[in-house]
Amino acid sequence: MPIPERLKPTFVSTRPVGPDPIKEGRKRLIVALDVPNAQAATGLVDRLEDQCQWFKVGLELFTAAGPAVVEALVARGYSVFLDLKFHDIPNTVAGAVRSAATLGARMITIHAAGGPAMLTAASAALDGLADPPQLLAVTVLTSMDAAQLMAAGVDRAPATQVELLARMGFEAGIRGFVCSPKEVVALRGLTGPEGVLVVPGIRPAGADAGDQKRLATPSDALTAGASYLVVGRPITQAPNPAKAAEAILEEMAKAIAPRGQSQSL
Ligand code: C5P
Repeated sequence: MPIPERLKPTFVSTRPVGPDPIKEGRKRLIVALDVPNAQAATGLVDRLEDQCQWFKVGLELFTAAGPAVVEALVARGYSVFLDLKFHDIPNTVAGAVRSAATLGARMITIHAAGGPAMLTAASAALDGLADPPQLLAVTVLTSMDAAQLMAAGVDRAPATQVELLARMGFEAGIRGFVCSPKEVVALRGLTGPEGVLVVPGIRPAGADAGDQKRLATPSDALTAGASYLVVGRPITQAPNPAKAAEAILEEMAKAIAPRGQSQSL
């Protein structure tokens, strides 16, 4: 599936960053709205409206508030990442991908562990749509370390398993992946500059890791080649979410500016 024009990153570009590197950072920061209801989501979005352009709706919020929450964000002009991580038989996942594509989200997720047939069906489900969302295959959750993987029956290092899953997705035609900061360099090597690498497990220096295991700072993740950073609790649970987002944007701006990286959205 070709990457929609507006999502194509331009990482190898030497074209200079615009006059406002913070604005460049804003195009690449996705705030995870992991909250229990639409009211809490609206409250957070209101507090972040000057800082953020992208919001991620995940399982907690979508299960509580449904498609209306996505449509409300889209109506307000935000870009939405609908992170439902589909993992089922190919026919069911293809149907879910088609349904998700109607909601106006610009990124959607499936689990790469669903296997080649599921990945191919998910990718094919978007064929022919005029303006499809970017399909992202989630590799290994950033909360999994080697011990967690082993307990789940995977006798490989997380990085090796991420590469195996991403290669499988790539062969199924998928060009967008979710990975931890630790695997960005390897996956950038696999996808080349046009791949869309969306990276959670982001923690500013000194922030609480929570349940995340494979982490990096915003600046390190961007320098490694991440297209987008996903940040939840360091912003949403901060006493002042707007101030926390601003600090992250400043760090992102410093990492973006020297390399002339930009993002065409
Ligand atoms: O609060 P925190 O910054 O840890 O949130 C990270 C977000 O990214 C959560 O919404 C989580 O569901 C999501 N995510 C992740 N690891 C993945 C894929 C998505 O943490 N591999």
